[in-house]
Amino acid sequence: MRSLIFLSFLLLFQTLPLHGAEIYVHMMPWFETKETNNGTWGQHWTMANRNPDNIVDGVPEIASFYHPEIGPYASGDPDVIDWQLGHMKAAGISGIFLDWPGTTDAYDYAKNKENAEAIIEGTKRAGLKFAVVYEDNNLNLAAVPDKIAQGQADMEYLQSNYFTEDNYLKVKDAPLLLDFGPQALHDAEWDEVLEPLDPKATFVTLWNQGQQAGNYVQGEFAWVWADFVDTLIVWYANRNVSVKIGVAYPGFHPFYGEGGWPGPMFYIEYGVPAFNTTWQMALNNTDIIQICTWNDYGEGTIIEPTLEYGTQFLDIIQEYTGSKYTSDDFRKLTDIYFMKKKYADDPVMLKLLRDKHHALVHKFDELT
Ligand SMILES: *[C@@H]1O[C@H](CO)[C@@H](O)[C@H](O)[C@H]1NC(C)=O
Ligand SMILES: *[C@@H]1O[C@H](CO)[C@@H](O)[C@H](O)[C@H]1NC(C)=O
Ligand SMILES: *[C@@H]1O[C@H](CO)[C@@H](O)[C@H](O)[C@H]1NC(C)=O
Ligand SMILES: *[C@@H]1O[C@H](CO)[C@@H](O)[C@H](O)[C@H]1NC(C)=O
Repeated sequence: MRSLIFLSFLLLFQTLPLHGAEIYVHMMPWFETKETNNGTWGQHWTMANRNPDNIVDGVPEIASFYHPEIGPYASGDPDVIDWQLGHMKAAGISGIFLDWPGTTDAYDYAKNKENAEAIIEGTKRAGLKFAVVYEDNNLNLAAVPDKIAQGQADMEYLQSNYFTEDNYLKVKDAPLLLDFGPQALHDAEWDEVLEPLDPKATFVTLWNQGQQAGNYVQGEFAWVWADFVDTLIVWYANRNVSVKIGVAYPGFHPFYGEGGWPGPMFYIEYGVPAFNTTWQMALNNTDIIQICTWNDYGEGTIIEPTLEYGTQFLDIIQEYTGSKYTSDDFRKLTDIYFMKKKYADDPVMLKLLRDKHHALVHKFDELT
């Protein structure tokens, strides 16, 4: 009996990845189609001067050098979300770090937040975890008059609506809260903004900026930067913070110049070599890895399936995590997505396809 139990333990451990890192992916909730945006394509597909209705060299003219395998999409569309999160699940990714605009009602923030919430619903369907990356810079961009009061309102919202979810990622026994900065709030302002949280979140900032974020900060996450691995090597080797989240990315190929938007213009050649390098470094140095990004088409850091690269990045992740899924499952997820769109007006077919998707995404759950 005892040896049987021991044997099943051995078998259980054999199904786990060889190494221990948890893989998360940074996700943007900010894409809109004409159907979801009052008849005009969302600005993240167009920037200042592109029109996805034009087909150029066989692909929709979007503000990116890369094109989603399923075409330009709406971030709040549950079929899109299931396709995206299904791929993450099959790659062995644990969940998402979701870019979150806050509760300020300016520009497209309210729509982004609504999409973020549709994605959070999707994480529950897929059995993935999530954590929020707060965009404190939005307080500047929206010229919020009382940034501290707005920041506190945002934290209260997170606490009542997201931190309560079973699948919100906890690190050191508290919800993990990432800030994409600090950019608008600094030093003691963060102590005031985080005051409403009980328990305090495990609060982490962008790399090498923790000292600008008050007393509650517990760590940092690395990000893409112009010097590629130079700053990263130093940060991994020397930065002494209690929560250290590594980064992996496929390059940086921004469309800002062509698209007529302001933004960082440095360049890191996009492709498998850059991903593999940053991926290996992250695995060597940290237990929590954030892949940047799932779908920032504007900056050219995408790992989701594109017409140009297919599932090449996901294949590398899938191999590392020891996921039982295969490339064939990626293909099935995409087939199901296109079938759902084809039969969008047929409730019977739609139900069959949703069931098929659900079965695929959960087929190994009981074994892990
Ligand atoms: C949608 O477009 C119509 C016509 O251009 C306009 O009157 C309306 O205010 C727009 N609605 C929103 C929510 O932008
Ligand atoms: C890192 O910081 C901790 C806590 O401040 C300290 O105890 C430890 O000695 C530091 N380690 C290094 C290598 O500096
Ligand atoms: C990734 O890098 C590792 C170690 O540097 C190397 O062994 C492997 O062949 C590379 N894989 C790809 C797909 O480039
Ligand atoms: C990762 O660590 C291994 C073993 O120490 C080393 O051989 C390899 O060069 C490292 N890879 C990177 C990309 O730092």
